[in-house]
Amino acid sequence: TGLITLDPGYKNTGATKSAITFLDGELGILRYRGYRIEDLAEKSTFLEVAYLLIYGELPTQSEYEKFSREITTHTLVHEDIKKILDGFPSNAHPMGVLSSMICSLTAFYPDSLDPNRSKDEVDLSIIRLIAKMPTFAAWAYKNEVGHPVNYPDNSLDYCSNFMKMMFALPAERYDVDPIVASALDKLLILHADHEQNCSTSTVRIVGSSQASLYASISAGINALWGPLHGGANQSVIEMLEAIKADGGDSKKYLAKAKDKDDPFRLMGFGHRVYKNFDPRAKIIKKAADDVLAKLGVKDPILEIAKELEHAALNDQYFIDRQLYPNVDFYSGIIYRALGIPTDMFTVMFALGRLPGWIAQWKEMRENNEPIGRPRQVYTGANERDYVTMNKR
Ligand code: CMC
Repeated sequence: TGLITLDPGYKNTGATKSAITFLDGELGILRYRGYRIEDLAEKSTFLEVAYLLIYGELPTQSEYEKFSREITTHTLVHEDIKKILDGFPSNAHPMGVLSSMICSLTAFYPDSLDPNRSKDEVDLSIIRLIAKMPTFAAWAYKNEVGHPVNYPDNSLDYCSNFMKMMFALPAERYDVDPIVASALDKLLILHADHEQNCSTSTVRIVGSSQASLYASISAGINALWGPLHGGANQSVIEMLEAIKADGGDSKKYLAKAKDKDDPFRLMGFGHRVYKNFDPRAKIIKKAADDVLAKLGVKDPILEIAKELEHAALNDQYFIDRQLYPNVDFYSGIIYRALGIPTDMFTVMFALGRLPGWIAQWKEMRENNEPIGRPRQVYTGANERDYVTMNKR
């Protein structure tokens, strides 16, 4: 009752209190549980960051070993999940396949539907999700290329296991390049949480009805899929490829992005919160240079990206609107160098964001937050009489 404040897109509405991620858009600061993103990206591992986000503190050696061991124990998925996978046509986008497989966990573990489960039971669901997500992600890709799936190799670290499930072929030896595994680990850390973005808010709002963790995460994956959110990393590469195919004239595309009659936007540019720079983009730009140099990859698209960035940063339209490259502008270039196909980029984002979604879901439930239920300002017809069909 009373006056409703209208705030489309929740540009200025705080939906929750949270102790997980601190973000200052003016100063370009990002911290997970108080730790600087720059330090975590350089010194930590993805599983350590996952633990930090979910449980609030960096793990001790023994906590870390237990956590990693449990994750390794649960990497295998039920064989019947293959039947679900087989039902998808090979041209199915891997994001749709991934969210379906994650949601299917509600069927394989129906206990997870009970909103009053013990802490230990919730922890087991958390372990299952982190453990099985790389298996699902790699299988979604295998479905697309029509190759037999690979089972997890539990002797490997998290990222190496994922790469092997992605790329190993029957009867061929496959050794994961440690440069590739460590670059991937860094990318996952950079994507691990970003407070109340679209997919995280989705996870929280779905979970606020006391839907299961698996169902909530599946919803988050679908929210991430869109081109204005996680799908931007795929769109960036598609855009850069289109510019290259069109003669490499980045100025022309800059003009298109500024033209209000043209729906084209410079993908990988702009952010709802960062108005000076995106600290993740800074780290990723440097990582892209490093990784390409180490792997000896020369990608002409990197040059186009740098040209485009330079032109946009010096253009009044972008300056006035405080539009800077975001995390997705350079991440796709690294994924390409690692051999990840373009339509798997958003899946990689989901893999990284998973611990953040889990941490936010857990915080929301532990704080007993009320069901999410925004209000509206009604703009439809006034009361009117029903008209029978023959009179319409
Ligand atoms: N290219 C051209 N113009 C842009 C762009 C862009 N990429 N982004 C914003 N603008 C303009 C927009 O047209 C508007 O202009 P005007 O004031 O003249 O109407 C102004 O800048 C403000 O934009 P907005 O759409 O009101 O801002 P928002 O906070 O609603 O949108 C955004 C944020 C990230 C969705 C948007 O900047 C965008 O569409 N960027 C491209 C897609 C992208 O890279 N998304 C990834 C975001 S970061 C990772 C993630 O969230 O997953």
